[in-house]
Amino acid sequence: MKGIVLAGGNGSRLYPLTHAVSKQLLPVYNKPMIYYPLSVLMLGGIREILVISTPSHVGLFQGLLGDGSRLGLSIEYAEQTQANGIAEAFVIGEKFIGDDPVALVLGDNIFHGPGLSALLSEQCRDVDGCVLFGYAVKDPERYGVGVTDGRGELVSLEEKPARPQSNLAITGLYLYDNGVVDIAREIRPSARGELEITDVNRAYLQQGRARMVDLGRGFAWLDTGTHDSLLQAGQYIQVLEERQGVRIACLEEIAFRMGFIDAAACHALGGELRNSDYGAYLMAIASTDL
Ligand code: DAU
Repeated sequence: MKGIVLAGGNGSRLYPLTHAVSKQLLPVYNKPMIYYPLSVLMLGGIREILVISTPSHVGLFQGLLGDGSRLGLSIEYAEQTQANGIAEAFVIGEKFIGDDPVALVLGDNIFHGPGLSALLSEQCRDVDGCVLFGYAVKDPERYGVGVTDGRGELVSLEEKPARPQSNLAITGLYLYDNGVVDIAREIRPSARGELEITDVNRAYLQQGRARMVDLGRGFAWLDTGTHDSLLQAGQYIQVLEERQGVRIACLEEIAFRMGFIDAAACHALGGELRNSDYGAYLMAIASTDL
């Protein structure tokens, strides 16, 4: 399965923070925001990744992540010239996707919870149609919203409904079979002028091939869309990392634990950052296996 991180948009809700910097490069405690969604793809075992961003920011992501080989990944880059909608990712990424199924994660979505890796590895296997991940929130009108029947089957999807029929937000992580490229090509811009990911998902639902997995209340799906929620996301990460002494979304550690790189490579990556706690942490975890 291939993976796409969509990291464009103009981040206008976070101005002036995002006047000169991409939203998805802002710090969430001690790492750039994009580390968190990228870690989700890696935990699902995905190693071929396309990062899409604006023409003015794509070079910054390239500078940060390179071709991915240091993490045992292959990372390519593409530009989205305007924020034409999330579903445009599949049109831009058509060549990259080729004949494969694809996971899309939004570059500003942060997931944390028990068994994420196992859940993703299981869901990424043999995707037929699409798999969506629902999460109960108190303000569903801000998101795509899914409604399920008594057996937990998805029955309807709406984008930012004024009167939500459920409290289940559809999070910014989506798994699709290869048919998504054709579906994305066929949908038309919505009233707000965007190719809506919810329209793609609705097309799958109409074919009876959309499933939703409820992440459940033990999970954290954090918002970074406002100044307050961005700060809170950083505080959440800080509290857990301080308490447990482990790092969340530490890409080098995940690459090591997933077997994409070996202990020596992880140790060497830490050595390059040895002046920071982050580097020391990497060297310490790799040392136990050296
Ligand atoms: O976060 C989950 C929600 O994301 C879903 O529940 C909604 O169904 C989905 O439409 C989306 O809603 P948002 O209002 O949060 O979308 P937003 O326009 O903020 O874009 C989400 C991210 O995708 C953001 O980091 C910018 C990036 N983006 C967005 C658009 C529209 C792009 O890179 N290009 C785009 O054209």
